[in-house]
Amino acid sequence: MKYYITTPIFYPNSSPHIGTAYTTIAADALARFQRLKGNDVYFLTGTDENAQKIVRTAESKGINPKEYVDGVVERFQELWKLLNISYDDFIRTTEERHHKVVQGIFTRLYEQGDIYKSEYEGWYCTPCETFWTENKLVDGKCPNPDCGREVELLKEESYFFRMSKYQDRLLDHIRKHPEFIQPVSRRNEMIRFVESGLEDLCVSRTTFQWGIQVPFDPKHVVYVWLDALINYIAALGYPEGEKYGHYWPAEVHLMGKDIVRFHAVIWPIILLALDVPLPKVVYGHGWFLSKEGGKISKSRGNVQDSFELIRRYGSDAIRYFLLREMQVGTDGTYSEDALVERLNSDLANDLGNFVSRSLAMLVKYRGGIVPEPGPDTPLEQELRALSLEVKNEVEARMEAFDPAGALEQIWRFVARCNKYVDETAPWSLAKQVGQEQRLNTVLYYFVEEIRILNILCAPFMPGLSPKISRLIGRNTGAWEEAGRWGLTAPGTKVEKGEPLFPRVDILQLIDGEDKAMEFEPIKEEVSIEDFAKLDFRVAKVVKAEKVEKTDKLLKLEMEIAGEVRTVVSGIAQHYAPEDLIGRKVVVVANLKPAKLRGIMSQGMILAASHGDTLEVLMLDKNLPGGARVK
Ligand code: ME8
Ligand code: MG
Repeated sequence: MKYYITTPIFYPNSSPHIGTAYTTIAADALARFQRLKGNDVYFLTGTDENAQKIVRTAESKGINPKEYVDGVVERFQELWKLLNISYDDFIRTTEERHHKVVQGIFTRLYEQGDIYKSEYEGWYCTPCETFWTENKLVDGKCPNPDCGREVELLKEESYFFRMSKYQDRLLDHIRKHPEFIQPVSRRNEMIRFVESGLEDLCVSRTTFQWGIQVPFDPKHVVYVWLDALINYIAALGYPEGEKYGHYWPAEVHLMGKDIVRFHAVIWPIILLALDVPLPKVVYGHGWFLSKEGGKISKSRGNVQDSFELIRRYGSDAIRYFLLREMQVGTDGTYSEDALVERLNSDLANDLGNFVSRSLAMLVKYRGGIVPEPGPDTPLEQELRALSLEVKNEVEARMEAFDPAGALEQIWRFVARCNKYVDETAPWSLAKQVGQEQRLNTVLYYFVEEIRILNILCAPFMPGLSPKISRLIGRNTGAWEEAGRWGLTAPGTKVEKGEPLFPRVDILQLIDGEDKAMEFEPIKEEVSIEDFAKLDFRVAKVVKAEKVEKTDKLLKLEMEIAGEVRTVVSGIAQHYAPEDLIGRKVVVVANLKPAKLRGIMSQGMILAASHGDTLEVLMLDKNLPGGARVK
């Protein structure tokens, strides 16, 4: 099935920011999902270059508008590349192919009497590129709640588009097609707006020359919104183009709520007048707001350099964060702290850690070769059922243009996979005689879970799938394969690899050394039961030496309740080995052993640190090694 999806075409009057990027990332996730499902996708984005505000910006910089937009458009295209945006076409409204279609349509509407000449007298908001009548202004300023800026009085000869003539047909269409304007809050707004009565729209300007000339009256240029909306069919080669015949009408026009009115009222009326079918869905998502509350936008000066953000966190993390934060029907909040929080918790901890620890066990217990699984138990059956449920839910959310909901579902499965590791405890199966088959089953399921997660995550984090594919020796695969189990061939070689998402320490990242001296925030509350799971003991250091070829690590042997343990600790820059011998320290005695520089470390000693200072906790009275600390 064909699937035509579009983003707005953005004004190239400044570099794209996180807010602009959101719509394009969301459209990309939807496009990739549809492609994985095997659909014939066409994904269009582009730039809206014939606006008066472009002329103004270029003039203020002393460059001609075309030169100016060429530079900014390049920035857009670079950013989309870094963000892995898989568009099929990028339309610029300064292109000849676009001009021709707009002029053809303008002439046709004029000839059939839907466009007529008159005079415009009223107000214009250049930042919004919108005409306003006197009675709509708020305190004499632009009534758009996101704008509120100065408007200008215009009095000029203009062409008008007979919107009023189509008002009833549009209302009828909206009423008969509940899916046409989504989400429902936007639909209700639009119904009220159309019911309140439409005025004819001014569709040409004579006070500047930048833009598309009205072919039969060259002192006029076409109003930028009429010009811009037409991009969606111009890019397909309307009226004769093969792509137009194949892909139109669009399955969805995706955009922010600020411009739904243009897409749900003006655009359908243009199409009705041309006798062209209407797009199936106009979807208006919320805005990204800054922590302080305002919309992220260039004019508010609250934007961060998107290129710098990608350099710091990587494109997948930014995609994940933005997609996950924008819940249906509301606004999202953007802050770098929140981004880092999600990166560390959802990506590094939940997903990344699951993949590395489960593959590490495969490497450790089976030399990285996927074993033939033994029989299932109810645990595996439950896991399979959940994965199917999640896959179906993800599909439903993606069909409803809700990537945040889809990710939430996928993370239910990630959480279940982590729980499965704890429940099956392969490290203890590995020690028990007669559990080889059970361990094989568990390890086999690990790889299958990763294979399925790889497919489920692919639309959202396209940079991740080649990495996971390499680890598990298998390409991402079609969407349907996320609904099947047992596709991994026993004998496949897997690798542990590097962590997929290294954790980020925001304090160090943002302001370097000053911030690193600040105190770490107190962690999330834990229950007394959780705390009681940790077993702290007094331990007497009996031997200490530097770990060869490192400058940070000490290898300590310590006596705990008659047992001697080895612990590797990163304190060599603060303590000489002889300072520790004979001292009593505190150790987390039930921490899972971990190998450091080839030495198995059986626990961790407690130390306090701040900035560059570090002190090991020590006891100096009579308690023996092995005494409980709580
Ligand atoms: O309106 N949060 O272009 P534009 C979420 N050229 N989305 C945001 C956002 C934010 N803080 N800031 C911007 C135009 N956007 C016209 C469109 S279409 C025929 C012509 C996104 O550069 C969102 O999609 O002002 C919004 O609708 C769009 O950028 C506006 O981009
Ligand atoms: Mg805007």
